[in-house]
Amino acid sequence: MLWVEKYRPKKLEDVVISKKLLDDILKWAREWDSHRKPLLLAGPPGTGKTSLALALASSLGWGTVELNASDQRSWPVISRIVGEGVFNETLSDEGEFLSSLEGKRKVIILDEVDNLHKKEDAGGEGALLKIIRKKPLQPMILIANDLFALSRDLRNHCKVVNFRRVDYRSIVKVLQRICKLEGIRAEKDALVLIAKNSAGDLRAAINDLQAAAEGKKKLTVEDVATTIRTQQTDIFKVIQKVFKSFDPEVYSMAMLLDETPDNIIWWVSENLPLEYEGDDLLKASLV
Ligand SMILES: Nc1ncnc2c1ncn2[C@@H]1O[C@H](COP(=O)(O)OP(=O)(O)O)[C@@H](O)[C@H]1O
Ligand SMILES: [Mg+2]
Repeated sequence: MLWVEKYRPKKLEDVVISKKLLDDILKWAREWDSHRKPLLLAGPPGTGKTSLALALASSLGWGTVELNASDQRSWPVISRIVGEGVFNETLSDEGEFLSSLEGKRKVIILDEVDNLHKKEDAGGEGALLKIIRKKPLQPMILIANDLFALSRDLRNHCKVVNFRRVDYRSIVKVLQRICKLEGIRAEKDALVLIAKNSAGDLRAAINDLQAAAEGKKKLTVEDVATTIRTQQTDIFKVIQKVFKSFDPEVYSMAMLLDETPDNIIWWVSENLPLEYEGDDLLKASLV
């Protein structure tokens, strides 16, 4: 099982987030009946946006419907939820209407809102705005990596909360807790190396920890350095092929790598011309 799922925070207290942001979000939730604005969580991947949305819903006793904005199948569900419905109607986990006796409040968690088309066609940003202007009958939490890919109009109709990259010290604490629960004795520097290498992406850090430590009793700096180097070599291999080939298969290979497109682009720009550097590079990142 993936540790990112195994250790996804269940409770609000377990989400690493500043008190200020959490207070803003709790206020939004408390006052939802009076404003009925969507909450818009924006920020880089792996910083806890989805986890926060789920933990918040669970702490309030709200059900959840998780949908992806770029998936066309989401839209009939969304418009049913906010559309012609009678006030008392609530939803099942599959997005079906229930009578108010059977149902409870459900929050729609709509991911990848920054991947919407700008046109006002079914599923575009315009369609979402229309829905929001009608004051949805259920709370909505919109999630986007890039706030500025959204129109100002959409932003202005939401309560915006900006997530930041997670501080490496907080990442180390999360990694230490996981090691403890997995029965792994980890050198502090090994965890610091993972944390700094993750650039504030806690999902990436936990994935790296699992790659380096799963099944081990002990985790050293060398274990981590080796894991990172192997990953980098894998990425180099793909990049090398990409630049030497017009074979479409290579592009799907790039997709198979456990990297976000952003990261792949970053790697491409960082590593042209290809340069292999040794352990010194890894050691330097510990300073
Ligand atoms: N702020 C955070 N606090 C606790 N765990 C986090 C946090 N951010 C990321 N994680 C870990 O990374 C995984 C992915 O986080 P997620 O909430 O899906 O990030 P996002 O939605 O911002 O991409 C979670 O399952 C959890 O294990
Ligand atoms: Mg997410």
